[in-house]
Amino acid sequence: MDRPSITLDPRVVVRNYLEAGDERALADDVLDGLTRPFKELPPKHFYDAVGADLFDRICEQPEYYPTRTERAILEARAADIVELTGVTELVELGSGTAAKTRILLQAMADAGTLERYVPFDVTEGMVRDVAEQLTEEHPGLVVHGIVGDFERHLHHVPEPEGPRIVAFLGGTIGNFTPGSRRSYLRRLGRLLRPQDHLLLGTDLVKDPAVIEAAYDDAAGITAAFNRNVLTVVNRELDANFEPEAFEHVAFFDREREWIEMRLRASRKMTVHVGALGLDVDFAPREELRTEISAKFTPERLREDLAAAGLELAELLTDPEDRFALSLSRPQEAAGRE
Ligand code: AVJ
Repeated sequence: MDRPSITLDPRVVVRNYLEAGDERALADDVLDGLTRPFKELPPKHFYDAVGADLFDRICEQPEYYPTRTERAILEARAADIVELTGVTELVELGSGTAAKTRILLQAMADAGTLERYVPFDVTEGMVRDVAEQLTEEHPGLVVHGIVGDFERHLHHVPEPEGPRIVAFLGGTIGNFTPGSRRSYLRRLGRLLRPQDHLLLGTDLVKDPAVIEAAYDDAAGITAAFNRNVLTVVNRELDANFEPEAFEHVAFFDREREWIEMRLRASRKMTVHVGALGLDVDFAPREELRTEISAKFTPERLREDLAAAGLELAELLTDPEDRFALSLSRPQEAAGRE
């Protein structure tokens, strides 16, 4: 039953599950993360309007290979993905402008299977714009948009109608720590029936110099993106971080196989967070971790999927093995064949 206020186009439904209290999420993360011996802020707070724009610019930097590599794999293999899965509906977590998804939707349209698109994003405007554009491009397409946090509102994804692909692209799964990564994959698996697939984008382990350059581009866009999280905290929580007083740090941790981004205080300072009545002391050169982004080997990926009850069906990579798109399905489904 659709709420009448939502929209006039019957092919488009957009539901917003964000609530007034959701700003607490940042306050809780700041309180929790900045009062620890090793300070940390979760990467999801990078993406205000400025941060989202900086991320788009990162994707255009010559050093940042993941986005263009993933797109190239999709361009080369979208038709195969559609043929292999018989997909009629695409659910996309963190859909944004749906730049890469369009390739898949077009392949579905070409194969005559395209029925429904379920974009899921935190920004309502993005979901609405994408819904409008795509229903214009594809007559007959139904869009069920979800505005929410893909960690907290996953249960609002509608019941599947036809064979479904749940897409989680861009390597964002790498932002989860290993334990929470597996439990999140398990939750994604619950959106799948035996005939459905998870399409997961993962960056691959490679020469650390290549990875580190991708997270420290010469134009300084990633550095600006990293510091922007301090601007977000200043604005939202009435804090007085001086972003220029923090140095951008990015290094590949070989043991954990992830890249870390940090912000290093250039000197001793005290930051006041007005909304929390909190003073945070930084020692000279003290570091605040702002992101981990895990890189995978095919073995690690297979193990993580298996631990989440999923079986790898297809691993699609680029000629240089920089990035992987994987198709996997519920284990019982794989076992029955
Ligand atoms: C959007 C999480 C996939 O980890 O590569 C880009 C974010 N951080 N440059 C990534 C990011 C720094 C990106 N993800």
